[in-house]
Amino acid sequence: MSIHEMRKNYSMSGLAKRDVDADPMVQFQRWFEEAQQPDLPDWMEVNAMTLATADTEGKVTSRIVLLKGIESGRLCFYTNYESEKGQQIAENPQVSLCFLWGHLQRQVRIEGSAKKSDRSKSVDYFHSRPRGSQLGAHVSRQSSVIDSRRTLKERYTAFESNYSQQEIPCPDHWGGYEVQPTRFEFWQGRPGRLHDRICYRWGGEQWQLLRLSP
Ligand SMILES: Cc1cc2nc3c(=O)[nH]c(=O)nc-3n(C[C@H](O)[C@H](O)[C@H](O)COP(=O)(O)O)c2cc1C
Repeated sequence: MSIHEMRKNYSMSGLAKRDVDADPMVQFQRWFEEAQQPDLPDWMEVNAMTLATADTEGKVTSRIVLLKGIESGRLCFYTNYESEKGQQIAENPQVSLCFLWGHLQRQVRIEGSAKKSDRSKSVDYFHSRPRGSQLGAHVSRQSSVIDSRRTLKERYTAFESNYSQQEIPCPDHWGGYEVQPTRFEFWQGRPGRLHDRICYRWGGEQWQLLRLSP
């Protein structure tokens, strides 16, 4: 099939303002739970989200990261603070997140401001990860150019023997970010491209609920 012939019609369900919770994080958690269906294929990660960041000159980059928690109304993910995304967030904390739950014909878009998690939280989470991932966080200078995979493997082996039988410390350059949302959009695919888009905008004191044109 050629690319221009690829299209699906969306008709699973609809979304009205009266259907959604007044609190967008409650609504997000409701949809997140619905996305976790028991018969999902193994490769599917419902907590995978596209994270877009931008520097102060307007250069935008995006990539997938994993949502690792929701606390006090903030969404948390973990990464290397010196990566391209980390450098952009340091310059400009405004980020956007986007979840695609294609099996439900749904998309959720979130905009907000990111800040680093408390160090103790990052350290606790780091120690809950498999040992291989902990070593990987030390070995990888994420987003920098590397001459070969062999270099990476050699660094890994060196770290592995340095820390054999020892707790691996959480690197200073690694930890969490927490996104405080100021906008949510819940998108439900509908027939004829007349999709439902229910949006929450933070007005400073309360959330404003709006329907957007598809
Ligand atoms: C399914 C999936 C999950 C990922 N989860 C993370 C993550 O939680 N944290 C992370 O730093 N990178 C994660 N990555 C890798 C990123 O997409 C990206 O390659 C990396 O963070 C470097 O991005 P940057 O150079 O734009 O900073 C994931 C990739 C995929 C495909």
